[in-house]
Amino acid sequence: RNFNNVVTSSGSMIVVSNRLPFVLKRLEDGRLIRKASAGGLVTAVAPVVINGNGLWVGWPGIHLEDPNEPIPESEPGDITPTAGLKSDKVIAVHVDPDVFDSYYNGCCNGTFWPLFHSMPDRATFKLTDWKDYVTVNKEFAECTLTALRSLKKTKDTPQHEVPLIWVHDYQLMLAASWIRQNAEEEEIPCKLGFFLHIPFPPWDIFRLLPWGDEILQGMLNCDMVGFHITDYCLNFVDCCQRYLGCRVDRKNLLVEQGGRSVRVRPLPIGIPFERFVELAEKAPKVFSGEHKIVLGVDRLDYTKGLVHRLLAFEKLLQDHPEHRGQVSMMQVAVPSRTDVKEYQELKETLEQLIGRINGKFTTPNWSPIRYIYGQVSQDELAGYYRDAFVGMVTPLRDGMNLVAKEFVACQIDSPPGVLIVSPFAGAGETMHEALICNPYEIAGAAEVIHRALTMPEDERILRMNYLRRREKVNDVNFWTKSFLSAMGSLFKPEDHDDVG
Ligand code: ADP
Ligand code: F6P
Repeated sequence: RNFNNVVTSSGSMIVVSNRLPFVLKRLEDGRLIRKASAGGLVTAVAPVVINGNGLWVGWPGIHLEDPNEPIPESEPGDITPTAGLKSDKVIAVHVDPDVFDSYYNGCCNGTFWPLFHSMPDRATFKLTDWKDYVTVNKEFAECTLTALRSLKKTKDTPQHEVPLIWVHDYQLMLAASWIRQNAEEEEIPCKLGFFLHIPFPPWDIFRLLPWGDEILQGMLNCDMVGFHITDYCLNFVDCCQRYLGCRVDRKNLLVEQGGRSVRVRPLPIGIPFERFVELAEKAPKVFSGEHKIVLGVDRLDYTKGLVHRLLAFEKLLQDHPEHRGQVSMMQVAVPSRTDVKEYQELKETLEQLIGRINGKFTTPNWSPIRYIYGQVSQDELAGYYRDAFVGMVTPLRDGMNLVAKEFVACQIDSPPGVLIVSPFAGAGETMHEALICNPYEIAGAAEVIHRALTMPEDERILRMNYLRRREKVNDVNFWTKSFLSAMGSLFKPEDHDDVG
């Protein structure tokens, strides 16, 4: 398949995601400005929307008293990926703050996030949260339909001009139901695609959800449903069969629903590889070189295995005293979902644990753990990735994990460092040359860090070469093209032949 063309959707595209590619911020003088939202989704999708003159439906990040207040254009000199997204291409979804709170903090991050990461003990199941999830999904669907109507397509629109609606992630698993129903009633043609950025759990976990049938039906209202890896696809297909009684084809990953055949596809997300290489080339030196650095970079989230990682590092220092004074762990944790109790508790736990480990081992010239609680710019992050000796990506469960990919992209110096990944992240499925580490087994994890720190140069070079080569080819552009191709919406007509 030839993927060398510019990534463009053949018809118009409407992207629907909980967050817009920017959040709005009100300045003291009352003016609204845009601040870029971080993350893989924005970097990946923004150029396709901008190049294809598409539309973006999402939450603007703050509550506006007047929903008709105009969305500002980007500031002069803005070089973020969304700078070219004009305000008339943005449809901001306005939701009552209390409803948004129980949708986002309650249902999305209190129910779906822990359950889909196979942590049912942390999940709450509150009917009021679920009702607000339904309300907000309907609101997103309404706004998407407004966007769709504005394109003025009719049932006579040629197939290659049919608009593509791309719905993202677990916050919006129901939205496609109302979009499809209304579009069909109004005879507006559209294609519907969905991508889940987190794991899809096995049937045994998914069945704990009291509203599982609505969720599956919501997703099945799309023509194609994408996940990071095949395991998540198979879990989804299994749930459709066992929960809804759908006819399924496991080999070809198809689910029959309402007389339609829904395609299910593994589409592992990538990163803007070359951009990270460039950032790493430019970044000033971060560490003095006096100590080897074991680096962790994560949102502060209980799925990321931060406590287990710190305990493994403590065990390393206990079992291999030769590393004391020679190696430090650097953990960068970005504040996330700070209104949710679980996240507040984790912050406390981490601070206490770091205090205890540092108290135990620190000498006048060396501390075992350095900890940054905050957002770090991408330029700075690239320097950390480049200068670290070990990248430690050990989530307890993770849809993919972009940090693992960003780390290898930035390992431009020779001899390079070593990547450690958890087998419970999507990245652990594909980054075969990394050292695999079960985060739950603390003593074993300590031994994996020891192995990374003492790995011979030629082995480090060999492993890193393979890792970098794979991520360079399977970068974020490749992911977007694969999605458009699976939807039959890639611009080049010859790419449409092998879809279906
Ligand atoms: P998730 O989607 O669960 O947050 P990923 O690892 O897939 O996890 O993506 C996280 C993204 O956030 C990466 O692009 C990473 O560079 C960025 N990121 C994570 N931690 C920080 C931090 N402390 N400062 C800045 N960016 C961060
Ligand atoms: O990757 C999963 C995800 O929930 C994305 O949907 C989201 O953009 C990112 O993590 C950060 O989470 P949040 O939007 O809740 O800050």
